[in-house]
Amino acid sequence: MVVPGLATQAGGALAIFTGAKSRSFTSIAASLNFSRNAIVGAPCDVIYPSTMPTNDGTHEKTLAALGVTSAEQISVLFAGLREQFDAEVSLEAVQLLWKEFRDRWIGRKSGVITQVTNNWLKPAPPGLKPTVGAELNKLKSHVESKLDEIHLKIENAEEEWARDERVDLSLPGVVRPIGSRHLIRQVLQEIEDIFVSIGFSVVEGPEIETPYYNFEALNIPEFHPVRADMDTFYLELPKGAPGPLLLRTHTSPVQIRTMEKRQPPVRVIVPGKVYRRDNPDATHSFMFHQIEGLAVDSDITFCDFTGTIEYFVKQYFGPSVKTRFRPSYFPFTEPSVEFDVSCIFCGGSGSGASGTTCGKCKGSGWIELFGAGMVDPAIYGFVNYDASKVSGFAFGMGMDRLAMLKYGIDDIQVFFQNDVRFLKQFP
Ligand code: DAH
Repeated sequence: MVVPGLATQAGGALAIFTGAKSRSFTSIAASLNFSRNAIVGAPCDVIYPSTMPTNDGTHEKTLAALGVTSAEQISVLFAGLREQFDAEVSLEAVQLLWKEFRDRWIGRKSGVITQVTNNWLKPAPPGLKPTVGAELNKLKSHVESKLDEIHLKIENAEEEWARDERVDLSLPGVVRPIGSRHLIRQVLQEIEDIFVSIGFSVVEGPEIETPYYNFEALNIPEFHPVRADMDTFYLELPKGAPGPLLLRTHTSPVQIRTMEKRQPPVRVIVPGKVYRRDNPDATHSFMFHQIEGLAVDSDITFCDFTGTIEYFVKQYFGPSVKTRFRPSYFPFTEPSVEFDVSCIFCGGSGSGASGTTCGKCKGSGWIELFGAGMVDPAIYGFVNYDASKVSGFAFGMGMDRLAMLKYGIDDIQVFFQNDVRFLKQFP
């Protein structure tokens, strides 16, 4: 529709929706029956409503300035504005532009209706005033009712969107179970606490060792029969690589590594993984855990040794447990002992609840706990300690075994299967 003497002006508003908003925009647009052509999809999930025309600016001028002098021309003018509004309202009334759009038409200060009142109605010659007033009222009520209608639709669409997107705070949350420390780790902590409380410190060493540390420096030369017992895993190394290397069969090499680095007094415990070519069964695993202990000073006696070990065992199993030492052999201790505790299951009686033989200690009343002894003076030669001035004791305990005994677990494999039903029992 062209009003003689009036120029049409193009322009528009541009809304940019981010990826997150684009869905709501499309769904709102769809629920408002907006033409899909009005939405131009651009790369990167950005949606631009196409450029929208603004009204043509006639309301900013007076009727005189526009050269309007007759009732017909006034009707044409108002029809133009109405058409303009109708075109825009279906295109522009999307959620994010709503307030801007409404203000532009019915904003009290400078909305189109206010401007028409100021520019057309107020200065109109008395003969035209009734026509302008009537047209203005018609336009005003048309615009207002349309805006109300659109606003309602926008609100409904927003509500619908909020319903879809809403977080229902009354829903029970997703239960994310908090893990706990593995029983072996808990037992380690317990053992560490006991030894740390009597002056030991905790050190660690490598799991891949040289035969020197794993054997030779522990007084186990190459053809010593003890090596045959160890069922060692040797590493396959690339040709020319210095070797051989092996997975340590015990934590004892860390005794050597510690004494190489520290001068007496030395009081350490060494927790860690060890490896042996054992077939898995209820008491064997190719990987298990040991805690090595070493105390070396100028005047350590066998009494210090037994006192320390007994203190530990009573702290760990409880004060009623009885202990005993049996002579044994290890290449790196002299004398060597095997250390036993009274059976934790039958209280040392050897018989079960109904008079049967206790299955755990096989009726002996004793359970073998670990190997230990006074450090063989030959060892000091490997670490440049003066064997005439120092003495000490050492022990090597199976951590898995200690855990099994204390917590009544009869299969070592459960430690490594990571079955939550087992792990959960030790929160
Ligand atoms: N290394 C021994 C083993 O794995 C255990 C052991 C025995 C360690 C006596 C010691 C010790 O330190 O004195 O069977």
